[in-house]
Amino acid sequence: MKQNLWINGEYLGTKEYSDLRAPFDQSMIAAVAAADEDQVKLAIDAADKAFLDMKEMPAFKRAEILEKVVQLIEKDRKECAEIIAKEASKPLKAALAEVDRTIMTYKFAAIEARKIYGETIPMDAAPGGEGRMGYTVREPLGVIAAITPFNFPMNLVAHKVGPAIAAGNSVVLKPASQTPLSAYKIADYFHQAGLPAGALNVVTGSGKKIGGMLISDDRIKMVTFTGSPSVGKWIRENAGLKRVTLELGSNSAVIIDENTHIDDAIPRMVTGAFTFQGQVCISVQRIFVHQSKYEDFAAKFVEETKNLTLGNPLDENTDVAAMISPEDVKRAMDWIESAADKGAEVACGGNVKDYMLEPTVLLNVPLDEKVSCEEVFAPVVHINSFETFEEAIQLVNQSQYGLQAGVFTNDLQSAFKAAKELHVGGVIINDIPTFRVDHMPYGGVKMSGMGREGIKYAVEEMTELKLVSFKL
Ligand code: SIN
Repeated sequence: MKQNLWINGEYLGTKEYSDLRAPFDQSMIAAVAAADEDQVKLAIDAADKAFLDMKEMPAFKRAEILEKVVQLIEKDRKECAEIIAKEASKPLKAALAEVDRTIMTYKFAAIEARKIYGETIPMDAAPGGEGRMGYTVREPLGVIAAITPFNFPMNLVAHKVGPAIAAGNSVVLKPASQTPLSAYKIADYFHQAGLPAGALNVVTGSGKKIGGMLISDDRIKMVTFTGSPSVGKWIRENAGLKRVTLELGSNSAVIIDENTHIDDAIPRMVTGAFTFQGQVCISVQRIFVHQSKYEDFAAKFVEETKNLTLGNPLDENTDVAAMISPEDVKRAMDWIESAADKGAEVACGGNVKDYMLEPTVLLNVPLDEKVSCEEVFAPVVHINSFETFEEAIQLVNQSQYGLQAGVFTNDLQSAFKAAKELHVGGVIINDIPTFRVDHMPYGGVKMSGMGREGIKYAVEEMTELKLVSFKL
């Protein structure tokens, strides 16, 4: 299969194609077009021109297009999940869950398209404001560059394209090189749903080249990026006055307080640590357990982890499949070995079979080991103990990242203390940091990024607030 670029409402071939291989068995999936500079420019030209239509399109029409996209995805739910499972090696169960979330995300986008409100301003609250009426409107920004990662190839595209279209912007989308087909599929749905040509363009190829062109073009008004902190920092430093939203990584932590009923928490924690091989920005990576529960918790967590089934992502019984690349398997293994050399206990896992890293549980890891203080993005979790709740909060905060943190506790005071003192974008009480529904605000502090997604919040980022003042 040959996958061409999607520019100005049509597929465009190019000189260069690269092999897209399945991470699970390296079988060939498609030859994917690598855009040259002229084609990236064409995509920006098309989006710039289409913005003229988009900004005049009434809200109900934008909502209808998004609703139609929802119907098309619903109809092809299984096919969409199989695309994700193949190109990302995401186990089918998780891929289906992602498709369901994608549907919800576009549903919320359709809702938000209809309620982009402003407010009236009581101008006479200040001397000099008498006899005036003020109100605000939210206007679309223009062309938005969306750069998306491999780990949620449909839903994280939805979190950028959905609010952009809801707000009346146009988009140039650069999906991750490993997961382009999900993005092209979505572009096709928007086309079928009646989105004007050029309002959504998809370009694949060298991230550096395409990203560089998008960031330096003055017609791009905003860059919305999910990916690594190093690329995020580079975008921030080079984007000039463009608006920038960055959803970067994390080494998410969870606290198990003294009074927690651990039997209830463990299955959920194992899901949070190993779903999609831990390649989720809010995957459970660091678990801090009160010392009175530590031994019991660790033993039960390891037992539950050993029940996970490794295998082909297209098999519906598979829980854990291949990681995205052999290089990432090697990196994770190096980090595990380093922690073990420094005294951590490998309670289970730590072996590689084909391209699959066994779900790995480490105990008592020195906290300056990479497997704790960097984002591991692999099926690897560590469990350490704490003595006091204050210490647990400090341990969670002792991180360069701050996306979401989970706290299991039955003590109301502790819950409020955690909510106040944890330095993260989201505090999740009595659940894992991996919890996310698609309309809630989502984003981080520190090296986890800036700006918020969750459709309503993304629409705010993707619109300009304009004041209108009337002298009566
Ligand atoms: C992410 O990995 O940033 C997204 C996580 C999610 O949407 O569940």
